[in-house]
Formats: sequence, C-alpha cells, structure tokens
Amino acid sequence: MSGSKHESDFQCWQGVIAEPPLQSISHPLLIEKEIELKVLRTDLVHPIISGNKAYKLKYNLEAAIQQGARGVLSFGGAWSNHLHALAYSCYQLKLPCVAVIRGEPELIPKSAMLQDLKQWGCQLHFVTRKEYRLRNDPDWLRSLAETFPDYFMVPEGGSSPLAAPGVAELAIQLEQSCKEANWQPDQIWCAVGTGGTLAGLIAGRTLDYQLIGVPVLKGADFLNQEITDRLAFDSAGNGSVQDKQSWSLLLDGHGGGYGKVSNTLLEQMAYFEECLSGDAFPLSLDPIYTGKLFCRFWQAVEQGDIPQGSRILLIHTGGLQGRRGYGLDWQLPV
Ligand SMILES: Cc1ncc(COP(=O)(O)O)c(C=O)c1O
Repeated sequence: MSGSKHESDFQCWQGVIAEPPLQSISHPLLIEKEIELKVLRTDLVHPIISGNKAYKLKYNLEAAIQQGARGVLSFGGAWSNHLHALAYSCYQLKLPCVAVIRGEPELIPKSAMLQDLKQWGCQLHFVTRKEYRLRNDPDWLRSLAETFPDYFMVPEGGSSPLAAPGVAELAIQLEQSCKEANWQPDQIWCAVGTGGTLAGLIAGRTLDYQLIGVPVLKGADFLNQEITDRLAFDSAGNGSVQDKQSWSLLLDGHGGGYGKVSNTLLEQMAYFEECLSGDAFPLSLDPIYTGKLFCRFWQAVEQGDIPQGSRILLIHTGGLQGRRGYGLDWQLPV
C-alpha cells in the first residue's frame, strides 16, 4: 500500500475523533462544600479509540506512516487499553500491528481484549513476565526489531516522546472549552500510569491552574522524577508554567496497587455512576484508572482538602473496555 493511501487513511482516523464534552456535575456534598465540578469526557471522543489514547497515539501513528514503517509494534498486558486503541487504529489504517503481550496464549479465551485484537488482525506475540520486564532494554528491543523488521515501536502505554505533543493539544483544547464555558479551573485532576498523559498536560498548559495526578501504582514516587525527565525531553512545553509548583502527585490513591480492585472501589464506582451522571452523558468508570481517580478526588472533598469555592476539572481518560476484566459491562460497538 502506498504511503499517500496511508496518509489519507490517517486524515480519516483523525477525522473520527470528536471533541471531548465538558460536563457539569452536581451533588449535595459539592454544593455544601461550595465546590464546582466539571468532567472532561475524553472517553466520549470515540467508542474505541477512547480517552487519552486518541491523543497519545496521534503523532506516533503519523510518524509510523511518514517513516513508511511496515507496521506498528507495542507492549501491554492482557487488558491493555493502549493496545486495544492501537490495534483498532492500525486496523482502520490498514497497518499491520504486533502486540507484545505479557503472559501466555492461554490468556486469549479469558480476555475479550485479546479477542478484539485478533478480530482486528493484530498479531499477538506472547512473552514471559521475565522477558516483558526487558521491554525498555535496548538489547532486547534490538532482537525484537530483528524478529519484526521495519516495525515502528511504541513503548508501553503509548508514552513515547511523540505522545506529549498530542496530549499538549488536549490541554489547549480543554483550556479553550473552559474559556467558552466562561469557567477557569483551579485544579485539574487525572489518573496516572506511566505519567505520559500528565507530562503532556503540563507541557501544553498555558493557564494558571494546579495539575494533580493520581498514580494507580503503589510506590509511584519515582514518577515525580520520570515526569520531570519527560518534561525536559519533550519539546512541546512552553516553559513558563511547567515548574514543580504547578503540578503534584497524590501517591495514596492506588487502592492497594495496580490492578487491585476491592469491593469498596466497585461500590464507590457504582455510586459515582449513579449520583454524578448528567442526563446528557451517563457516566461509566473503569476500575483501574478513572474509578481510582474519582475515589481519591471524593476522599479529598470529604476530608475538606479542597478549598471552598474551588473549581475542579476531572479528566475522564477512558479505558472503559477494561471493565470487562472485572465482570462489568462494556459493549464493543458494532
Ligand atoms: C484509561 C486510562 N487512564 C489513564 C491512564 C494513564 O495514562 P499514562 O500512562 O499516560 O499516565 C491510562 C494508561 O494507560 C489509561 O488507560
């Protein structure tokens, strides 16, 4: 297939990503505490290329096409939101995709996510957990590149330096939406995995608000340094408002660690889905990222950690397909 065909497919790919709606949320506790809450619903930008993935993948896919790569290769677990969005994008772009999966082929019947990947023609390449730990090791990556020559490699979670400019565009878009709503947030909160999304938001911001990340990993203090390093490396930043005062991580919102999902978390998610939904955009959360974000935010509200009169924006970063890993409903759109 010619490069220009891929390029026109890429324009189509971009064209199907909608603008994320800004949703106002009302609740008696928020009224009592005089807190204004809005949620940026990036989960609604596309039924499958959902949430932060739409922004993180954009320039990675563009680079793969421009370089004339034979396909795209990336990494993740059996329920990876990133691989799900990437494999579907490659299917749309008619680009071969290889997913390097942590675990055994026996996972396939247990994971609807892996079954989706197969349906979209993605090649599943299973590696042991020990091997998977080498996913950033240059020697291991070189040998993988020999197995899959001319494939464009995207790191786990899509958090390459090319993710930042895409997420920075989200920051600009969200500031624009807030301006149109005549509403200036004091704090913007988002869930953090690798830190790529938060780094892109920090890099792209132009207004003065506090960015608060809620890591879903236990012991994620190292992310403070990693995000700082990403900011130094990425070129998208405007430099003026990136200082460490303007962003912070709440390290106690992981709910027991990555992928740990308690009954309390599931109950709280069900409560938020019922009580924080607006009519126009019913709210659905995932237990790995956005569920933990909402729980940690609510804890801050209940504890009185959020100053009266604050305007808070939560970013819903999607990942709803992952609900299926916990027996929660999500339908693959037909
Ligand atoms: C739904 C969802 N939200 C948030 C994140 C965190 O993004 P990042 O890895 O850029 O910190 C992820 C990461 O994969 C995700 O799938």
